[in-house]
Amino acid sequence: GENILSVNQLDRDSIEHIFSIAKKMEPYAKKQKRTQVLDGAILANLFFEPSTRTRVSFGTAFNLLGGLVRETTGMQSSALAKGESLYDTARVISAYADAVAMRHPDAGSVAEFATGSDVPVINGGDGPNEHPTQALLDLLTIDRELSRFGAGIDGMHIALVGDLKYGRTVHSLSKLLSHYKNIRFTMVAPDGLQMPQSILDVVDNAGHRIEVVSKMEGNLAADIVYQTRIQEERFPSQEEANKYRGGFRISQAIYDAHCKPSSVLMHPLPRDSRSDANELDNDLNNNDNLAIFRQVQNGVLIRMALFALTLGVENQVEKYEVEVPW
Ligand code: CP
Repeated sequence: GENILSVNQLDRDSIEHIFSIAKKMEPYAKKQKRTQVLDGAILANLFFEPSTRTRVSFGTAFNLLGGLVRETTGMQSSALAKGESLYDTARVISAYADAVAMRHPDAGSVAEFATGSDVPVINGGDGPNEHPTQALLDLLTIDRELSRFGAGIDGMHIALVGDLKYGRTVHSLSKLLSHYKNIRFTMVAPDGLQMPQSILDVVDNAGHRIEVVSKMEGNLAADIVYQTRIQEERFPSQEEANKYRGGFRISQAIYDAHCKPSSVLMHPLPRDSRSDANELDNDLNNNDNLAIFRQVQNGVLIRMALFALTLGVENQVEKYEVEVPW
């Protein structure tokens, strides 16, 4: 099977194919139906860096297709701590497992692992580099949210806000959006945390319009406002990260003053809920346009679709349906 390592592998047709399979997964994710299409298959869910939703949703997605999940969490609890190479780890794990989902702090690590694996490997985040499944779930969310207003991805206006330097999700999402048409990007980040030039070049080469700004005021009237966390763990020092704490908070008052009434608020999560950091204030929790928990639901659908596709069972999901006994 094919690996999913980078959004660079995807074009518009493949993205739309993944979305069509993801939408077919909804009744299974909602437990209105059950399938055993991956009966007996084993997912190795290898997370060498902290995660809540990516790890649990990869496992949940595999379980919802009838498969089994084994997992390891943290570098110290694995043999990587004893100096084992990613290649050897992959040779071992792929002898047990039928698919691998993996997160690791080093850029390129998941691709390196994949060189030793003969089963599909899906990247759950490799350091500051890429988070392709997050980008897909974000894009599916954008599509679904804008469709509520009769709009689509082509022609939209998106504001990316916060730590655009270290936030891998906005890098991967920007690359995916290069396959769409006539998008207006407002890159809202403090000086020092702006979007890397390499990503700006991808967006520019796609013919999109880009504004690079360093304050939120007057720059949030977009269809999608995508907020990010300051990625403290990737800064050279805590002091450097502290300079940016709390600088780019969006509260209901900021939303009312600077967003459109229909602006959809997104965030890859986790949001830092400490009172001096909160990037999306808790007072937005009842805002109908806060899409952060709908993003999470779409994540399960995307991961189910990717497992079905990489294991070649995307057309057999219905055939292996079983009764829901509860
Ligand atoms: N969005 C995301 O990657 O969250 P986790 O770090 O909890 O997996």
